[in-house]
Amino acid sequence: MNQNAWASVMEEVNKTCDLHLRDLFAKDPGRAGRFTAAAAGWTLDYSKNRITPELMNRLLALARASGLRREIDAMFSGEAINATEGRAVLHTALRNPPEKTVAVNGKDVMPDVHEVLGKMKAFSNRVRNGDWRGHTGKPIRHVVNIGIGGSDLGPAMACQALKPYAQGSLKCHFVSNVDKTHLAEVLKEVEAEQTLFIVVSKTFTTQETMANAGSARAWLAGKLGEAAVAKHFVAVSTDKDKVEAFGIDAKNMFGFWEWVGGRYSLTSAVGLSLMIAIGPENFTQMLEGFHAMDEHFRTAPLEQNLPVIMALLGILYSNGYGAESYAVLPYDQYLARFAAYLQQMDMESNGKCVDRNGQRVAFATGPIVWGEPGTNGQHAFYQLIHQGTRLIPCDFIGFCRSHNPGHHDLLMANFFAQTEALAHGKTADECRAEGVPEHLVPYKTFEGNRPTNTLLADELTPATFGALVALYEHKVFTQGIIWDIYSFDQWGVQLGKVLAGKVLEELTAEDEPALAHDASTNALITKYREARRRAASRSANY
Ligand code: F6P
Repeated sequence: MNQNAWASVMEEVNKTCDLHLRDLFAKDPGRAGRFTAAAAGWTLDYSKNRITPELMNRLLALARASGLRREIDAMFSGEAINATEGRAVLHTALRNPPEKTVAVNGKDVMPDVHEVLGKMKAFSNRVRNGDWRGHTGKPIRHVVNIGIGGSDLGPAMACQALKPYAQGSLKCHFVSNVDKTHLAEVLKEVEAEQTLFIVVSKTFTTQETMANAGSARAWLAGKLGEAAVAKHFVAVSTDKDKVEAFGIDAKNMFGFWEWVGGRYSLTSAVGLSLMIAIGPENFTQMLEGFHAMDEHFRTAPLEQNLPVIMALLGILYSNGYGAESYAVLPYDQYLARFAAYLQQMDMESNGKCVDRNGQRVAFATGPIVWGEPGTNGQHAFYQLIHQGTRLIPCDFIGFCRSHNPGHHDLLMANFFAQTEALAHGKTADECRAEGVPEHLVPYKTFEGNRPTNTLLADELTPATFGALVALYEHKVFTQGIIWDIYSFDQWGVQLGKVLAGKVLEELTAEDEPALAHDASTNALITKYREARRRAASRSANY
């Protein structure tokens, strides 16, 4: 992080940290207008943050001093900014209109992007209109996406978010966990003859996905015979050879490229299940929403740039106020999985402690992301946000219109009331004026000064949804640049994969090889082995 620019931010934080949002609003009638920006169908009101115009100027100077503009251009133009993997980062190309060109190593990637999109559209239409039939001639009624991480969370979250746009006769299911229960419970809900499995894996090596795909394939072959696999399995991957080795014909494979990171892959062929659910036209509108936010991020002045503003506010709280987490609170049930999706996007991207020079950073980087839809959260964890000892900045996400309008005014009344209460709180004198007995005043007083962003759009549509996801993608990117960390690798995840492979051998080998872990792990594995032996001898006796 640029130390001079950060020191200048902290100088201003030290001057302003005792100001209360209540007073900032009282003193400045123009505050809400001053701290509101809009793009791609979204309005961001960030006036309920602990900022002054001067502090915002200094935060924006931090972004400039970090070379943000240059880095944005580098990403959009296909430079290999994922340096530890030697790759470009071009999820933005996936949403480009056909006339744009973007070169990776001198080759325009756009023709390939549009060829795959065309193939996805043709296939989705065939599944949706019943033209693609299963082995016994019946149309598809169930689509099962088998993938994990970015190959699951994006389409799973989006299928739920855009459910009002989905074709009712088709049901999408998602299997990710290697716990067999996940697959087993989905298989109870589907008919083999009418089920299409989409195996989604960038690498086509991921343990969980390969285990689930293998079991699903065995289940289907057991019901309909091996010859049925061709009509019931398609793949999304970057690795054609591995897809073919699994037994899926390459013509039923939808490709993408190494420059699409898993957690940024929803708009690639990874979104195939979503396109089948909502149809190519709605999918295209979603891409247009993504593109509108991409263009806003690429071209808007930093002081009006939604992702940049949100990134800077996040850094203010993480690094200036020591906040450990932020909450994402969508007031729309269709966005129930949005926080889970953002957890991977943000925490896998910026959960890094080494900077781009290979040095350990001396400040906090990626925060913990969590959240639930309002109003459920209000009856669960909001107490801690209102009166706990920790500072938890929140993003409130809401819509002026609902797809299910019956209670919408009530829902939105809560939405607006919460951000106001968090900002202004309730003083001891206000409690007394309400007749609160003196001994209860400390408990019924709310400090307030709890910062929130409010994101408001007219309606949850494919376009506003796409713009929302892109907004967070670029927020995360901006924070990575300012923290000077690499946001597009995930070496930390590799460690777990390697270790699990070694332990699996130790659990399953007949000769139970000697264990060389720490004493705790040795004892736990020994206990598990004993239980496994007992279960095996019980089933041998029956
Ligand atoms: O969780 C680690 C990870 O590498 C993610 O980045 C990725 O989205 C996920 O595994 C799945 O990988 P793949 O698509 O190759 O199966």
